[in-house]
Amino acid sequence: AIDISKLRDLSGMITLDPGYKNSGSCTSKITFLDGELGILRYRGYAIEDLAEKGHFLEVSYLVIFGELPTAVQLEQFEKDIRRYTLVNEEMKSIIDGFPKTAHPMGVLAALTSALTAFNPKSVNAENEKEMYEAVCKTMGKFLVIATWTYRKSMGYPLNYYDNTKGYVQNFMRLMFELPNEPYKPNQIVIDALDKLFILHADHEQNCSTSTVRMVGSSHAGLFASISAGVSALWGPLHGGANQAVLEMLEEIHRTGGDADKYLAKAKDKNDPFRLMGFGHRVYKNFDPRAKIIKKAADEVLSTLGVNDPILAIAKKLEESALVDDYFVSRKLYPNVDFYSGIIYRALGIPTDMFTVMFAIGRLPGWIAQWKEMRENKEPIGRPRQIYTGHPLRDFKESDKR
Ligand code: ACO
Repeated sequence: AIDISKLRDLSGMITLDPGYKNSGSCTSKITFLDGELGILRYRGYAIEDLAEKGHFLEVSYLVIFGELPTAVQLEQFEKDIRRYTLVNEEMKSIIDGFPKTAHPMGVLAALTSALTAFNPKSVNAENEKEMYEAVCKTMGKFLVIATWTYRKSMGYPLNYYDNTKGYVQNFMRLMFELPNEPYKPNQIVIDALDKLFILHADHEQNCSTSTVRMVGSSHAGLFASISAGVSALWGPLHGGANQAVLEMLEEIHRTGGDADKYLAKAKDKNDPFRLMGFGHRVYKNFDPRAKIIKKAADEVLSTLGVNDPILAIAKKLEESALVDDYFVSRKLYPNVDFYSGIIYRALGIPTDMFTVMFAIGRLPGWIAQWKEMRENKEPIGRPRQIYTGHPLRDFKESDKR
């Protein structure tokens, strides 16, 4: 048998960094993040400014192409996205194959991957023109199929994009318009959603974005890479946390509203429960997005006249955690997911669509990161490992085992 310790000499020097806590995977010009100071900027613009003064499609353009669009460029971008909002009719038969109970994120991942089959030219976006088309196609079609996951779960007929309406308003229409029941636009709702999408647009090398870059690094196409990003986002430690937060808050409410009991559970190392929406790999200070969302939650609920007891529970949890030694010493603060679900709920978005909302917001970031990875001609992502299994063993026939 080979002595495994001798193999180390053959493998060279390897840095072992599970979860990539201290490893950079690329250089990037898209998003600047300082987790100690709680700073987030897209292409050099402060997230606070973008959320207050920007619109989702202009911020998407900024994230993807590097500069804020001129009025002419923005109009053209919106027009080009509209051109590509039609989704191939055969995609409907794929949706029909899912049970109504399927989680929308699973359906979304499958439909996104299926776009590959119907849009072969955009798969690899080999020149600037194809890349621009691929960007517009993805922005247009992804929004439509994202809403179709909800329509499917409700058994409603699928809706089509209305070219006379804006992108975010179309999202609400596509979701909620019923035959003989036109969607009545509510500007407060549309503005709040627009802001939430901006806040989610990119966040450097998080789990789903790293997945998009990693999958794309093998030269798998844009849609396959984004489909993988959707799957990565689904997990409750990442984008799925927004659904998990709301379910947690509802449970606290249902069981009598004792927030402190749940804080104690989160601190108990024998209990797998974690305070959902708290903590972040990079932010060791307030997540700047959470600050903006908390303020927006207050505004949206009061303007819409919604009195949700769950908001009070969330505030109580935050208040207690911020003075609790366990959370303070580990620098655990509310993250982007802590308050976003409360707004989604007030806007009438069903809980199992929350992570889909995140995906719609994150789409420009995934596209921008895929594009940058290709333009930088990055090598295939292929981490190493330290083998800790058996040394060489002799094979025995089954009757001798
Ligand atoms: N509740 C209770 N304890 C926590 C929490 C939490 N939400 N988050 C971290 N901790 C504790 C850990 O138990 C660990 O304690 P220890 O040092 O005594 O072992 C310490 O804080 C550090 O936590 P790690 O898990 O090592 O931190 P990591 O950077 O790997 O994880 C993560 C970050 C996944 C976000 C984590 O904080 C978590 O699970 N939070 C809840 C889920 C959540 O809100 N996810 C959304 C993140 S934002 C986003 O992806 C969009």
